[in-house]
Amino acid sequence: MARILFNHVYKQYGKDHLPVVKDFDMEIKEGEFVVFVGPSGCGKSTTLRMIAGLEEISKGEIYIGDTLINDLPPKDRDIAMVFQNYALYPNMSVYENIAFGLRLRKLPKHEIDLSVKKAARILEIESFLGRRPKQLSGGQRQRVALGRAIVREPRVFLMDEPLSNLDAKLRVQMRTEIIKLHKQLGVTTVYVTHDQTEAMTMGSRIVVMKDGVIQQVDTPEQVYNNPANTFVAGFVGSPPMNFIEGRLLDEGGRLEFHTNRFVLEIPPGKAASLKNERVVLLGIRPENISVEPIMFDAFPKAIIPGVHLLSELMGADRYLYLNIGSQTNLVVRINPRNQFEEDEKINVAIDMNKALFFNRDTGERIID
Ligand SMILES: Nc1ncnc2c1ncn2[C@@H]1O[C@H](COP(=O)(O)OP(=O)(O)OP(=O)(O)O)[C@@H](O)[C@H]1O
Ligand SMILES: [Mg+2]
Repeated sequence: MARILFNHVYKQYGKDHLPVVKDFDMEIKEGEFVVFVGPSGCGKSTTLRMIAGLEEISKGEIYIGDTLINDLPPKDRDIAMVFQNYALYPNMSVYENIAFGLRLRKLPKHEIDLSVKKAARILEIESFLGRRPKQLSGGQRQRVALGRAIVREPRVFLMDEPLSNLDAKLRVQMRTEIIKLHKQLGVTTVYVTHDQTEAMTMGSRIVVMKDGVIQQVDTPEQVYNNPANTFVAGFVGSPPMNFIEGRLLDEGGRLEFHTNRFVLEIPPGKAASLKNERVVLLGIRPENISVEPIMFDAFPKAIIPGVHLLSELMGADRYLYLNIGSQTNLVVRINPRNQFEEDEKINVAIDMNKALFFNRDTGERIID
């Protein structure tokens, strides 16, 4: 177990190229489970590979525990990595696959045997130890790959999209198993995924990245409720947050949000931080918009008229897509008992206490 400290880390693949990781600067605490998340190409794997020693660090420093690892060979870093493709040896049994790293270290046979069996028990693969990898399902293979990492008893686990080859149901199951494993072993873990649901459900903290730059480092709750900017707000949550552009106008002491189609009154608690703004983006999550009559009474000055484009029934929810202006659509999460005709005019009520505001040009959140 050990903390990982990034001190203004950059990565550039070749002198003529722009850096793909820029000023990565944070600390992962001892025993933490941190998830790097962001769209394809944002630099997640590159950052992980710099920890592992599979990529050189172009600038800055990385520490594991108190050891500066920039020039430390990968084998001396005391880490174990699990990848998307399990990279098992096809001609070895499951047992031999798990034991392989320990054999290389020339540990006594009975010690190896104890470790392998203990890992197999934790991962519930004891009955497969004699099989070859190709005789296993995807989930079982991934468990073997985890077993190989566990027996090394590293100070740090690095996992790069370890579940993305699995089908949806197995992925959900393995998520839980990895979390359970982390609770049992307490090893500092860095987990990479482009799947925001995986990040939200697994990370004790998540690091949202875009174009090689950290956008926010926080707990899943904070990232969801208090996103730093429109990128984070839009990336986390499904269906994504709605953004509406509008002008702020002071109407005799009350602040209002105006578009060409409707006016929303800003709650007093949010008005102070907005009084110097002119044009802003209003962000509102689909679950904070309502078609229920009771909400119209609660928010009489926060009604948006829309035209029904389409509905998606998701089982417990229905997603309603409305056109609310020339270029603007709104997605609303509603109770499926509410049904609407195509092109029907629908009013929705916005819970303005849940609305967030962003600078239109920079995308930065205006904190209230
Ligand atoms: N060996 C390399 N040489 C040059 N550029 C590279 C190399 N490896 C990665 N890159 C570039 O660095 C950037 C970050 O890549 P990286 O693999 O870290 O992204 P990622 O966030 O892991 O994406 P994904 O979700 O697709 O795995 C990308 O623009 C990629 O094209
Ligand atoms: Mg990657």
